[in-house]
Amino acid sequence: MSNTVYINGRYLPEHEACIPLMDRSFLFGDGIYEVCAVVNGKMLDNDAHLARLGRSLNEIDIQNPYSNSQWIDKQVELITRNSLAEGIIYIQVSRGIFEREFVSPDGLKPSVVMFTQKKIILDAPLAKIGAKVITVPDQRWERRDIKSVSLLAQVLAKRASHKAGAHEAWMMENGFVTEGASSSAFIITCNQQIVTRPLSNDILPGITRIAVLKLSKDQSLEIKERPFSFAEALNANEAFYTSASSLVMPVISIDGHSIGSGVPGKFTLMLRDIYINTVLQSSS
Ligand code: PDD
Repeated sequence: MSNTVYINGRYLPEHEACIPLMDRSFLFGDGIYEVCAVVNGKMLDNDAHLARLGRSLNEIDIQNPYSNSQWIDKQVELITRNSLAEGIIYIQVSRGIFEREFVSPDGLKPSVVMFTQKKIILDAPLAKIGAKVITVPDQRWERRDIKSVSLLAQVLAKRASHKAGAHEAWMMENGFVTEGASSSAFIITCNQQIVTRPLSNDILPGITRIAVLKLSKDQSLEIKERPFSFAEALNANEAFYTSASSLVMPVISIDGHSIGSGVPGKFTLMLRDIYINTVLQSSS
């Protein structure tokens, strides 16, 4: 049976849903998106995802088409129609439809698309064995804080990591890790400091990143928000990445060099457990 998707006010079978040729997300990548995990039919950290959606829209001067409660109603409806127990819900908003001109008139009606995907989130097999990471140059633009649908650099990074038999690519700029192609990057140093790059236009403000930093503080773990280098990452005791779909994912190697003892680190696994317990309690 075909999955139901949401497209501009209608719930349709996926194979019937079409985006007009002149949609600006298709022609220019002129739009933004969000990905929120779903576990037991509930969305994890959805308020924060909707807040970031509003921020991304504001940064590129697109009016948010719905209030938070309207978004939630539509998300819940789609999750229910697809009987989604575990996976992700995707939202995309583009500036709208107009003939191909770089500048479009103000007040275009934004195009809204939502779909769900089934995915194992809680018991992801990779979380047990740990992920391999490669490094690639960060080839993105200078507003990485906006969750733009223009993802060519990330697609190329992910292709390179897949080709190398790895699971994620960490992007490098001036010798320092910025973030993962679709995740936030962390190391835990030999003196048990959790290190991750501070928020700026250089990285996406990861929703899972914020939650994990808060939980780490609650556990009295020491946090340093600063850039870390490739050499530091190789010498770290543990490394991990976070995202809506991978939660907290242990990293066991970077460019073929083992991290720590080459197995998922104990603090990383503890943070994954605590994150899961906390986020499930507050999911909606
Ligand atoms: N990606 N950095 C980048 C570049 C990302 O694309 C993502 C998420 C993150 C983590 O953000 P969050 O914790 O809010 O998911 C960091 C999503 C999952 C994706 O594109 O599929």
